Amino acid sequence: MGLRLVLLGPPGAGKGTLAGILEKELGLSHVSTGAFFRNEIRRRTRLGKAVNRYVSSGRLVPDELVVRVMTRQLARRRKAKGLVLDGFPRTVGQAKGLDAFLIARGLGLDGAVYLDCPTSLLVSRLSGRRVCNRCGSNYHIRTMRPRVAGICDACGGALILRKDDQVKTIAKRLVIDRAKARPLLEFYQQRHLLYRLNGSGGVAQVFQRVRRLMQREGWLHDRIEDGRRD
Ligand code: AP5
Repeated sequence: MGLRLVLLGPPGAGKGTLAGILEKELGLSHVSTGAFFRNEIRRRTRLGKAVNRYVSSGRLVPDELVVRVMTRQLARRRKAKGLVLDGFPRTVGQAKGLDAFLIARGLGLDGAVYLDCPTSLLVSRLSGRRVCNRCGSNYHIRTMRPRVAGICDACGGALILRKDDQVKTIAKRLVIDRAKARPLLEFYQQRHLLYRLNGSGGVAQVFQRVRRLMQREGWLHDRIEDGRRD
């Protein structure tokens, strides 16, 4: 495994969007906890049935279950050029679970990048988001429109509002996130792994900020090139 990054930030900060670009532009493997759970729900698996009530109501899935399934996902990607974790960890308990998994393999994290955004922007991004009901691709009614309204560019599926993007559920997710975020940020701050970035502005602008950070830290050359040789 090469570079290992965690993306942190409240719902709507742009973690999934940025992770998708890092995958496309730099070849990092994007591991999204939310997308993984939604796919399990769509396929009506046992896990999907177990997490459905949490995900659709905007509550967090219990730590023990998240750590178990996500570390299993990570173990499968050990040949990846690099990893960008989106939505995991989200609590200190999960961060400790991730640490234990990495330490047992003689590995560590390179950084935890927190995307900072004002609440009004989070609400407008989430309430305007539309997702493909077939492949899960993300769009936005103002900032990331599909070529044909209501239809996914990638697979032709219908674009819908995520259940947890209804205004009432957005408010609940933001409250839950606020309660969990501070201790998690302190956890990474104490380990000198935390990087705070401005997550507002356009997609290209946010990507450029992350790219500059990666260049400054030497990750672009050292860690991603290293990963290529794994
Ligand atoms: P998850 O899917 O991870 O939801 P989230 O963290 O609430 O994050 P979002 O996906 O809503 O936002 P994002 O930051 O990825 O923003 P995005 O890039 O999509 O989790 C869903 C649920 O699963 C949780 O509520 C929980 O129940 C469960 N779960 C997941 N992980 C868990 C865990 N570790 N522990 C326990 N439970 C867990 O962007 C949002 C919109 O804005 C999009 O429309 C996008 O097009 C647009 N946009 C993004 N960036 C920009 C930009 N720079 N400019 C313009 N538009 C932008």
